[in-house]
Amino acid sequence: MSDVLEEESSAKQEEEERLQRELLFATHIVRAIDVSKTYYLGAEPVHALRGINFSVRRGEYVAIMGPSGSGKTTLFNMIGGLDKPETGRVFIDEVDIAALDSIELAWLRCHKIGYIFQTFNLLRVATALDNVMMPMLFAGMQHSDAQDKAVALLERVGLGKRILHKPVEMSGGQQQRVAIARALANSPSILLADEPTGNLDATTGLQIIELMKELNESEGVTVICATHDHKMLDLSDRIAWIRDGRVERFKKRSEITITEGRADARE
Ligand SMILES: Nc1ncnc2c1ncn2[C@@H]1O[C@H](COP(=O)(O)OP(=O)(O)OP(=O)(O)O)[C@@H](O)[C@H]1O
Ligand SMILES: [Mg+2]
Repeated sequence: MSDVLEEESSAKQEEEERLQRELLFATHIVRAIDVSKTYYLGAEPVHALRGINFSVRRGEYVAIMGPSGSGKTTLFNMIGGLDKPETGRVFIDEVDIAALDSIELAWLRCHKIGYIFQTFNLLRVATALDNVMMPMLFAGMQHSDAQDKAVALLERVGLGKRILHKPVEMSGGQQQRVAIARALANSPSILLADEPTGNLDATTGLQIIELMKELNESEGVTVICATHDHKMLDLSDRIAWIRDGRVERFKKRSEITITEGRADARE
C-alpha cells in the first residue's frame, strides 16, 4: 500500500517538475521591444537599430546572423545594459532595465549576464587569472574561492598553462578564450556571445561551441550568440537574421537548411 502511495507521490512530483520546467521555458528571459539607436558621425546619423523586436525564451540557444554593420553588437549592448535605447524597451526577466538604478543595473550585469565581447575588452595590464577573477571579486566572492574558480574556468577553455600571461603576451584566440572564461565567472543565466569563435581555429572553436552547448543543456544557461559559424547554427534552437537594424527573419533550427557556406530558411 505504502509502495503505491510512494509511486503516486513520485509521479505527482515528476509531473509538477515537468510543469515547472515548461513554465520556465515559456517565459521570456530577454525581450527587446521596438528598440532603436542612432549614432552620429559628426552631423551624419547612423541608424544602427531601427525599432528592432527580439525575444528569447529561458533556456534557449539562439544564433544571430547578419552582415557587418547590421546592428548585432549594438543589440547586444542594449541587452547587456551597456547602452540605452533611444526608443523602445529592454526587459530582462520581465524587468524593464530602464527602470533600474545604477546599482541594480550593475548587479544585473555582474550576476545575470555574461558578455563575451567581440573585441574582448580585457584589462591589458592584468593577467588572465586577474581578468577572470575580477567579476567574482566585484560580486563579493572570497579571494581564494575566486582564484580557484578562475583557474578552473581557464583550464576549461584550454588555458591552464597561460593563467599568469597578460593579454599582450597572448594570441587573439587565447585572449578570446580569457574573455569567454571571464564571461562565465559569476555563472550567468544569460550568455551574450558576440562572435566568440571569430578568432579561433576550427578545433578550438568547436571546443568553445561544445562548452556553450553544455552550459545550455546541463545548466540551462540561455545563449545568444552572434555568429557566422555553421557548426554553431546547427546546435541552435532558433536563428535570427538581422539586417539594417531589424530582425529580418527568426526561424527554428528545424525550419532551415544549412549547407556549406549558407544557411537558408525554408519558406
Ligand atoms: N560608436 C559608434 N559610433 C558611430 N557609429 C557606430 C558606433 N558603433 C556602431 N556604429 C555603426 O552602427 C552600425 C551597427 O554597428 P554594429 O557594431 O552593431 O554592427 P555589427 O552587426 O555588430 O557588425 P560586425 O558584424 O562588423 O561586428 C554600423 O553602421 C556601425 O558603423
Ligand atoms: Mg559586431
